Amino acid sequence: MKTKITEMFGIEHPIIQGGMHYVGFAELAAAVSNAGGLGIITGLTQRTPELLANEIRRCREMTDKPFGVNLTFLPSLSTPDYPGYIKAIIDGGVKAVETAGNNPQKWLPAMHEAGIKVIHKCTSVRHSLKAESIGCDAVSVDGFECGGHPGEDDIPNFILLPRAADELKIPFVASGGMADGRSLVAALALGAEGMNMGTRFIATQEAPVHENVKQAIVAASELDTRLVMRSLRNTERVLRNGAVDRLIAKEKELGANLKFEDIMAEVAGVYPKIMLEGTMEAGAWSCGMVAGLIHDVPTCKQLIDRIMAEADAIIRQRLAGFL
Ligand SMILES: Cc1cc2nc3c(=O)[nH]c(=O)nc-3n(C[C@H](O)[C@H](O)[C@H](O)COP(=O)(O)O)c2cc1C
Repeated sequence: MKTKITEMFGIEHPIIQGGMHYVGFAELAAAVSNAGGLGIITGLTQRTPELLANEIRRCREMTDKPFGVNLTFLPSLSTPDYPGYIKAIIDGGVKAVETAGNNPQKWLPAMHEAGIKVIHKCTSVRHSLKAESIGCDAVSVDGFECGGHPGEDDIPNFILLPRAADELKIPFVASGGMADGRSLVAALALGAEGMNMGTRFIATQEAPVHENVKQAIVAASELDTRLVMRSLRNTERVLRNGAVDRLIAKEKELGANLKFEDIMAEVAGVYPKIMLEGTMEAGAWSCGMVAGLIHDVPTCKQLIDRIMAEADAIIRQRLAGFL
């Protein structure tokens, strides 16, 4: 399939694997890229730019296809060494960067000079237009369904994607709630040039996370996610568990007085325990409503081949049959 996104990133299929903390290691990024999609290493999961440089090297040993790096610009107490991470990306010869969070404008000239295409993840039309105006090459439009941070507007993709299509001139991919060939065809119909998946790629053979995480996603339904940290304007969609129930109880009790320190135990530093050790009750972890559409743990190649075959059949048979 050829779209503006496959052309922009030099990939075979218009499918991107979104950056995911403690999931987006070289193994997953390489597997997605080898299967014809765009795999993404999560920059900040590597604690230093040197470690990121090493992760990029490891990925390159596993694939000769294009892959990218996610850089998340978050308001955090200790600002990461962003110039160092950008240098590691440029020196590593990476040509695709997924930015997320705060405005990436400051970092665009250096990346563009190095021939890097930048796709910024946005949860609103407003932010997508801003990304376009500052010179981003593409946008990943992340609807309310998504795992991770859906923003504060709560607009689902059935509205958000056509709204983005009406306003944007640069290409965009649909993100949030994407799982299969139906998702891809729907995304294309709504104006996107491809799709970005997070949660679906965690439940794959190559995702280097504990088996318990994959099984939790397979076992979950679309009813099993919760929104947390809304009162802090840092809303996150997570899979419900004991820690999330405790967190929500504190949110109810403290209301507008809730501070980050009150919920540190449930959210700070929990990812390694969950993703690497499989201690599923250790805290809150991002997961999309799309868990309800995930019933197996295929290889990335099986998953992407299946998506493309389904999309082909839907377009050529089901849709063409209506005409
Ligand atoms: C476990 C997990 C961790 C994530 N970590 C990040 C991250 O560090 N940076 C980021 O930009 N997005 C992150 N995301 C969001 C994904 O890149 C993607 O936008 C989102 O998962 C899409 O929604 P879906 O899960 O419905 O496919 C994360 C998502 C999940 C499920």
